[in-house]
Amino acid sequence: MIKQATIDHLLFLAKGMTKQSYAPYSHFHVGAALLCDDDSIYTGCNIENASYGATNCAERTAVFKAVSEGYRHFKALAIAGGPEGEIDEACPPCGICRQVLSEFCDADMPIYLAKSEGYDEYTLGQLLPLTFDLLEK
Ligand code: THU
Repeated sequence: MIKQATIDHLLFLAKGMTKQSYAPYSHFHVGAALLCDDDSIYTGCNIENASYGATNCAERTAVFKAVSEGYRHFKALAIAGGPEGEIDEACPPCGICRQVLSEFCDADMPIYLAKSEGYDEYTLGQLLPLTFDLLEK
């Protein structure tokens, strides 16, 4: 169970990371905060590219930062995003990010989606049922 203070902190960091977003094409600014097994936190923002397909989402930025530092399993994720960084509705992770998360996270991992007031909560399994998986976990 993730403590409420930790959830609030993850949401605070995810919202703050929208300020780092590089999104000159969509102007849709996204931030993410990922809780590691040892309670350290890695953050990320979306990083767009003139070749649109080379864009990296905030969630994958956070995952890749953490994995490249040696982490292999995560306990929770918070996401915040909106046009020009205005957080109004929840910003659910895209399909590619859901697949990447499924490589390193259990189906019951909570994902918190910031809203103008409060947040929505899902598990990864709710967002990505019937996961494609080649490894025994
Ligand atoms: N984006 C994310 O960073 N995360 C998501 O889960 C949804 C989409 C970014 C990608 C792109 O830079 C912008 O939002 C608009 O699609």
